[in-house]
Amino acid sequence: MSLSPKPAPGQPMKLGVCYYPEHWPERLWTEDAARMIAAGLSVVRIGEFAWSRIEPEPDRFDWGWLDRAIAVLGEAGLGMILGTPTATPPKWLVDRMPDMVAIDRQGRARGFGSRRHYCFSHPGYRTEAVRITRAIAARYGDHPAVVAWQTDNEYGCHDTVLSFSKAARDAFRVWLADHYSSIAALNAAWGNVFWSMEYRSFAEVDLPGQTVTEANPAHWLAFRRFSSDQVIAFNRAQVDVLRELSPGRDITHNAMGFFTDYDHHDLGREIDTLGWDSYPLGFLDSFAFSDADKLRYARQGHPDIAAFHHDLYRGCARGGRWWVLEQQPGPVNWARYNPAPLPGMVRLWTLEAMAHGTELVSYFRWRQFPQAQEQMHAGLLRPDSVAAPGLTEAAQAARDIAALGAVGAPPKSVALVFDYQADWVTKIQPQGAGLSALWAAFNTYTALRELGLDVDIVPPDAPLGGYGLCVIPCLPIASEAFAAELSDFPGQIVIGPRSGSRDGDFAIPAELPPGNLQTMFPGKVTRAESLRPGLTHSGDGWQVSSWLEHVETDAKPELVAADGTIACWQHGRVRYLAAWPEGNLIAAVMARAARDGGLTTHALPPGLRLRRAGGRCFAFNYAAAPLDLPASLTGTLELGARTLSPAGVAVLAEAAPSR
Ligand code: GAL
Repeated sequence: MSLSPKPAPGQPMKLGVCYYPEHWPERLWTEDAARMIAAGLSVVRIGEFAWSRIEPEPDRFDWGWLDRAIAVLGEAGLGMILGTPTATPPKWLVDRMPDMVAIDRQGRARGFGSRRHYCFSHPGYRTEAVRITRAIAARYGDHPAVVAWQTDNEYGCHDTVLSFSKAARDAFRVWLADHYSSIAALNAAWGNVFWSMEYRSFAEVDLPGQTVTEANPAHWLAFRRFSSDQVIAFNRAQVDVLRELSPGRDITHNAMGFFTDYDHHDLGREIDTLGWDSYPLGFLDSFAFSDADKLRYARQGHPDIAAFHHDLYRGCARGGRWWVLEQQPGPVNWARYNPAPLPGMVRLWTLEAMAHGTELVSYFRWRQFPQAQEQMHAGLLRPDSVAAPGLTEAAQAARDIAALGAVGAPPKSVALVFDYQADWVTKIQPQGAGLSALWAAFNTYTALRELGLDVDIVPPDAPLGGYGLCVIPCLPIASEAFAAELSDFPGQIVIGPRSGSRDGDFAIPAELPPGNLQTMFPGKVTRAESLRPGLTHSGDGWQVSSWLEHVETDAKPELVAADGTIACWQHGRVRYLAAWPEGNLIAAVMARAARDGGLTTHALPPGLRLRRAGGRCFAFNYAAAPLDLPASLTGTLELGARTLSPAGVAVLAEAAPSR
């Protein structure tokens, strides 16, 4: 049997766990490995923070413990994802190279004593990262039990993509010179005549963090693009070594939730499978959900958190291969409040990832470590090695997965277009508190999933053939190529606010928004305003809140508020949404577009979510009470019952697969 996390054709997804042999006495390893196998786990992710144990002093390597750990785990039948330990440079390295740390916007050094204390732009640290990667890959690159590599750990975690160091400034100047033909071209593209911000050479350009009031948004956008490129280049340096010394192994990296500081489409193109770390309860508590939802879903997570990221990262991944490299197994330690999941949720999250097409779910972590920063974070085992509730659920999920077998391909239904630089533009210039392209995408995704639809979240350069509906929640920089792809697309199209509102250097296009998308929607946005809470315009069952665009067009007003405010325009198969995509407004627009696109929708009770794949329909109950499947959903039950208990999962073989 292959030890690779990638299932063989026709085989179901695999389960795994993150394990830290360096935390535990060696006498526990054999038993731990046997218990993993007994629970149905076949993959173990190790090593990503172990630099100080691998190289306790400069150039003195201690391989013994890791040789033995890999041997014990491998002999038990576990395939290993080995991490490069570059997220945790040891103290001796920082002391040797003190300027390798990232510098925050206030100019403070981000010191040693936790993790991620490095600057992506520091050439010396990049060399060190390559050196340690080379050493580990040379030792284990052809080990039969080492079946995949993870580069680093969660690029950007703890706000570490943007660094205001001297190394970053120097590299930024080089990057600018590569991207603009001359300093005059940069001045013109950024509009630096404004406030006498003109430069005479690239060497005069500083980082945008310390200006008196806001820096030029074009300057910020360039700095964000540069910073993202630095992450990709840092990753590539390791990938090159791993490809050379460990050919044939998958290379992955673990992305995070609701995180856009680097372009994951760029990362996904360079590795074999994109991983992500799924913490539905921590994310619910930490991000912009309403207090009502935080309470309603406190033990389940909002029903779209995990699925949104599954669909987002599948779209970022080369060839659509993606893994859940960390899955919440119980309470975490890092949110403001850290409740325990409802019994059954760990299983539900696992089977939901399966329905969305993952190859692997790996729980974080095997055993709760009683010391240091994450001592309050659950594992599958308690610190005393007794099984925690997560282990029982993981084992149940393993049995369910074995019974269900491989999951087939999903139908093509809705393409939701998301671009990382769209979120950079809206973060740099929200123009209304909290309005970002990422959340526009999330709100739109929720509206679609509440209709029971399947969604692919795709980059603007993705082919759109086969979808019934294409939604562009918020795409400020819309290229001519994207407009051309849209005009070839025969399905329904919804263009959201701010789309086409900027050129590549953050200027408003001469023809006014939606710029290049005017080929699809003949109109001009003549004024945009943001609306404070309470300043709303109400229509029939929907409201305009947060944002409103005034549009000059011959298109047909489709949604008109009682006071005459036009929320949505229609021009043939194209809708232009002139208000922020949220709440019942985006729900109304999605329902209309889905109907016009001939998509099959369902009236789902709150908290129920569906996912189709390979002629099956999976149903997940995120509500805290039992729910019935709607009568409109037909088929033969393969798992569960038509009444789903809280955290319940049902799988129906569909008589007539729908899209
Ligand atoms: C992730 C991280 C892990 C661990 C985990 C705790 O962000 O990759 O190393 O810290 O969170 O939930």
